[in-house]
Amino acid sequence: MSIQPSKTVPLAGLAASDAAKDAPPKPLINLLRGWPAPSLLPIAQLQTATAALLTDSSIVVGSLQYGPDPGFQPLREQLASYLSRTFAAYDAPNDLERICITGGASQNAACVLQSFTDPSYTVCIWMSAPCYFLMCPIFEDAGFAGQLRAVPEDVQGTDLEALERGFREFETSPPSRPTFKPNLAPQRKVYRHIVYVVPTSSNPSGVTMTVARREQLVRLARKYDALVIADDVYDFLQWDVPQADANLTEKQSSVALPPPLPRLVDVDRMLPRDDEGSEQSDIHGSRHFGNAISNGSFSKIVAPGLRTGWVEATPAFSYGLAQTGSTKSGGAPSQFSAATISVLMRTGELDRSLQEVVRPALQRRHCLLIRAYEKYLSPFLELKSGNFSTRESKLQATYGGYFVWLKLRRADLSATAIAKRALAKENLVIAAGPLFEVKGDESSARFDDHIRLCFSWEDEAKIEEGVERLARVLRNWDETLSEADPAPAGAGDFK
Ligand SMILES: Cc1ncc(COP(=O)(O)O)c(C=O)c1O
Repeated sequence: MSIQPSKTVPLAGLAASDAAKDAPPKPLINLLRGWPAPSLLPIAQLQTATAALLTDSSIVVGSLQYGPDPGFQPLREQLASYLSRTFAAYDAPNDLERICITGGASQNAACVLQSFTDPSYTVCIWMSAPCYFLMCPIFEDAGFAGQLRAVPEDVQGTDLEALERGFREFETSPPSRPTFKPNLAPQRKVYRHIVYVVPTSSNPSGVTMTVARREQLVRLARKYDALVIADDVYDFLQWDVPQADANLTEKQSSVALPPPLPRLVDVDRMLPRDDEGSEQSDIHGSRHFGNAISNGSFSKIVAPGLRTGWVEATPAFSYGLAQTGSTKSGGAPSQFSAATISVLMRTGELDRSLQEVVRPALQRRHCLLIRAYEKYLSPFLELKSGNFSTRESKLQATYGGYFVWLKLRRADLSATAIAKRALAKENLVIAAGPLFEVKGDESSARFDDHIRLCFSWEDEAKIEEGVERLARVLRNWDETLSEADPAPAGAGDFK
C-alpha cells in the first residue's frame, strides 16, 4: 500500500547534472492517498471512549463477545436517531430495524453481493464512471468479472439515459433463475442489476448528484429491478465553499453541516410505489426490499482502522443482509469498534470532532488547494468541480469529500505519463485518471486526460507545494520529453 520515495530527485527542469545529483532528495508528497491526515484522527476521544467501555460492566462483555446479527444494538439505536435528525427534512424515521452494522463500506459491499446477487441472474454491475476503483475487485470477487459496465457521469451525476440504454440491452434476454444461490428467498432476494454510485462528493470526481437525478435513478431502479448501492461515505464531510477572497489566516473553529440532500435511500422511501398497498405474491411474500441502500462508513468520520460502517435500507433488506452467512457466524463484524463508536456518539464526541476538527480542516485544505490551483495549475488543468468562481447555485456553493478532479487542457498529454514524470522528477504521487476506469469496460469511459488530487492526507503546506511541483512538471513537459522515467508502481499499491 505504500510507495517508496525515489532515492534522489533532481531539481525539476534540469537534466541530472552534478549539482542536482548532490541536492538532497525532496520529501515525498502523496496527493493520491485518500486517507484522513493523522491530525484528523480523534485519538484522545478514542482513548477516553475505550477506557469508559472497558470499565463499564454493563456493556464490556457484550462489546467483546460475538454480537447479534444486525450489530451492536446501542449503536443501531444511536445511528437511527442521528440519521433521522440529520435527514429530518426528508422525514427519515427513527427506526433501528432499518439499520445494520457493517465492517465498513467495502466489506459491506461484498456482503450485499453475497446476499442479493447471483452472477447467473444479475446481469451487470453498473458503475458511475469515473469510479471508486477499489470497488472493482470486490465486484469481481463476487463473480462479476466481465460484467462490470461503466456509465458516464456529468456535472449533475450519473448519466441516466446511458444507464437506461444499458438496462434495455438486457430486456430481450429472458431472466434465468438464480443458479448459484437458489436458497436466498424469502429473507433475501436476487436483483437483476446492481448500480454503484457515490451520490454525494463522489470519489474521484467530487460531483454531487442533483435531487432530480436521484429521483430519476430510483424510478429507473424500480422499473428494471435494480439495487442501487449508494456509498454515502462523504455525506457528513460537506462544507460551504468560502469566497475566493476569504481570509484564511484564522482557522474556522466550527463548521456546520450544510443542509443535506436526500440520500437515495430517502428518495426510495419517499417516492410512492405503484405496488403500494398491494400484497406481493412472489417468492418474497410481502417483503419490500427496496431499490436503494445507504452504505455508510465511520472510516472518514472517525477512523478507517475501526473498520465499521452501517447500512440503512428497508427493514426487510437490513434483516436479509444480517442473514449473510459470514455475519450469521459470529454476528455483525467489528463489534468492539461498534461499541466504541457508540460511546463517541452517546457523548456527542463524534459530532464535536466533525464540527470542530474534521470539517474545518477539510474546508481549509480544499480552499488552499483551490488557491494553489489558481496560482500554479490553471493554465494546464481545468478544475471540474469545487471552484470558487462557479458558485452559481447552492449546490456548487457546497463542496465535500477528499478530492478534486482535473482535466488536462492539452489534448496530447497523458495523465499516466504525467503521474510517472511527477514521481520521477518531483517525488510527487498523484492519481492518473485511468485508475478510475471501470475494470473490463475501460473503453466506455476513458480518463487518461484526468488527474485526481487528494487534500485530506498531506499537511497544509505540502498541499500547496505538491501543486507547485505538479505545475513544474507540466511547465517543463516539452523540454524533458526525451528523458526516460522509471516504471511506475502498480495501481494496486496505492489507495
Ligand atoms: C467511495 C468510497 N467508498 C468506500 C470507501 C472505503 O470505505 P470503508 O473504509 O468503509 O471500507 C472509500 C474510501 O476511500 C470511498 O472513497
